[in-house]
Parts: sequence; C-alpha cells; structure tokens
Amino acid sequence: MRVLGLETTCDETAAAVVRLSEDGHGEILANEVLSQIAEHAAYGGVVPEIAARAHVEALDHLIDRALAQARLTLDDLDGIAAAAGPGLIGGVIVGLTTAKTLALVARKPLLAVNHLEGHALTARLTDAIGFPYLLLLVSGGHTQLIAVKGVGDYVRLGTTIDDAIGEAFDKVAKLLGLPYPGGPEVERAAEGGDPDRFALPRPMLGRPDANFSLAGLKTALRLEAERIAPLTDADVADLCASFQAAVVDVVVDRTRVGLRLFREAAGHPTAVVVAGGVAANQTMRRALQRLAAEAGLRLLAPPLPLCGDNGAIIAWAGIERLRLGLVDDMTVPARARWPLDAGRDEAGEKA
Ligand code: KG4
Ligand code: ZN
Repeated sequence: MRVLGLETTCDETAAAVVRLSEDGHGEILANEVLSQIAEHAAYGGVVPEIAARAHVEALDHLIDRALAQARLTLDDLDGIAAAAGPGLIGGVIVGLTTAKTLALVARKPLLAVNHLEGHALTARLTDAIGFPYLLLLVSGGHTQLIAVKGVGDYVRLGTTIDDAIGEAFDKVAKLLGLPYPGGPEVERAAEGGDPDRFALPRPMLGRPDANFSLAGLKTALRLEAERIAPLTDADVADLCASFQAAVVDVVVDRTRVGLRLFREAAGHPTAVVVAGGVAANQTMRRALQRLAAEAGLRLLAPPLPLCGDNGAIIAWAGIERLRLGLVDDMTVPARARWPLDAGRDEAGEKA
C-alpha cells in the first residue's frame, strides 16, 4: 500500500510518499518539504495570504519531486491523502483541492486527514506502538494533551486557553529582538543563561485539569525585560533560560495531570508521545523523559524532521485510514477549525 500525502495547512508546503510493508511497518519513500520561513520572516509570523499563494506556486513541483524520488507514478499509488484542516483556510484549500483533482484523474481513493491526526499517529510510523497512548502535541498552532485510543478515536484531555507554546516562544523571541521562528533561537540563547535569575510565574501549575495558559508568563517576561532595558546579550540569555525553565515546569506538571486523566479516560497508556515543532526542544525532552520514566513509561519523540509539519505524517495517517476503509468523497470540506475529538461531519468551509 502506497499513499501520497500533501501538507499545506500552515507555512510548510510538503508532499511525501509512504509505503506500508507486508509486516505492517511504514517506510518513507519520499518526503519533500519546502519551508516558507523566508517569506514570512519579515513579518515575525505567518501571513495567511502569502502562505496560500506560496503553496499554489510550489505544490505541483513538490509532488513531481516526491514521485520521482519514490520512483513511482500516480498510477502506482493506492490513495491520495491531504491535510483537510485545521489550519489557514487558503492553504488548506490548495492542498485538499489538489488531492481531490489527483484522486479524480487517477481514480484513486481520497483521504482527508486531520492535520492533528497526522501528528497523533506519527509514533506508529516510527515506532509501531499500539493504542492507547498519551500524546503531547506542542507546535506553533497547537498545545494539546490527547488520549489516542485508536484511529479516529481521540479524547482531548487538555489544551491551551490562550497562546500555543510555540507561539509563546515566537513572541518572546520577537520581543527580545531574536529572529523568527523563535523557538530554536530562544533555546540556543538559553544555553548560556541563568534559569534562576528571573522568578517568572508558572501559570496553571497544580491545577486539577490539564489545561495550559501561556499569556501571563509571556507578559511577565516582557515586564522584566522592560525593567532592565537596555538588554545586554547576557540579559537576553538569562531571560530566555528563565522563560524556557518556566515553560518546561508547566509542561511537565500539565503532562503529569494529563497522565492521571488518561488513566480515567482510557486505561493504561503504552507510551507518552511528544510531537510538534516544539518537541525539538532538548530541555523539554529531557524533562519529559524523566516524567515518563517516573511513571514507568517510554517517552517517544519522533525524529526531528518528522516533528514539524511534513507530508509523511499525512501520508501515514492516510494509510492508517485507508487500511480501515475510512475513505472520503469529493464533498469533504476544508476546515479552518477541526478539533481532533469532533465528528467528521461538522460543517466546515467548502473546498
Ligand atoms: O509543528 P511546527 O513545525 O509548525 C506548526 O506550528 O504547526 O512548529 C513550529 C513551532 C514554532 O513556533 C517554533 O518556534 C517552535 O515550533 N519550535 C521550538 C523549537 N523548535 C521549533 N520551540 C522551542 N524550542 C525549539 N527548539
Ligand atoms: Zn503541525
């Protein structure tokens, strides 16, 4: 079984081919990703209209490259998958309409994948783990703790009530004069900094629900930065280290509560999985590793190229759906909003 996967929900244009081998393992035959970071850098964040146009310009070419890399033609495929949301609607429409067109022309099944489901199922591509497991999804757009009980069977245990964690890293970088995207920059600056110099708040710590809040932390950091301005490089390093330490404390505490809620909702997890762009953060990974070990569980983090947005995670989710016969028809809509635990029939924008 071989599936093409398209990803266009944010600022990465991506096309990949993944194969399901006889023994049930996934194999990535091609994974072409074109980041639009340069196009958006001047604005300090993703500009939806620029993103949609860039997807239109790049996608056909990336599909050609992915098929060439996999040494396949459209005829050789068993399905065409695209992320149908949630995301910036202009971009989502580009990917989904392209997938519909290819599916019609090549007479292949269409698989409309929830982008979050792509992240949620990645650990089954890389580590072949069984259900159920706890997923911590941390990216520029999402911060969620999810019980992954099966394909299409998800329970959201917690989410952010304001900013996503990656977004908070990006905003902090911006206010400290560091380039976009901010996460890697803040992590690098934090390496030489003192995490104890600024006593920043740990929002939601100790609360019995598993929700997150980042806005107050970001504001507290801004006030500290304003108080000691002008900032030296050492100040920036200390601010980054203190911010990262606070975020990591919050993530560990929220994930610990998430594990407790998981056991009530879904029984014993097979593992703790962390995914999304922020999962690249090494300090966070180490802290989560300790937490998982405490709970007697494995921490699985997909390799860095599969942490962020890419086509292989969409193709793999497409394979998981196709093998269960969960195919879509041409009326499936593009959705700006699409919670993972909502039904598939909720109204969305038409593609
Ligand atoms: O999953 P992703 O590539 O795109 C989506 O948002 O869907 O995640 C990108 C986010 C950005 O906010 C970026 O700043 C953050 O992940 N990020 C990091 C690190 N690397 C990327 N945040 C903290 N530490 C990092 N090392
Ligand atoms: Zn993503």
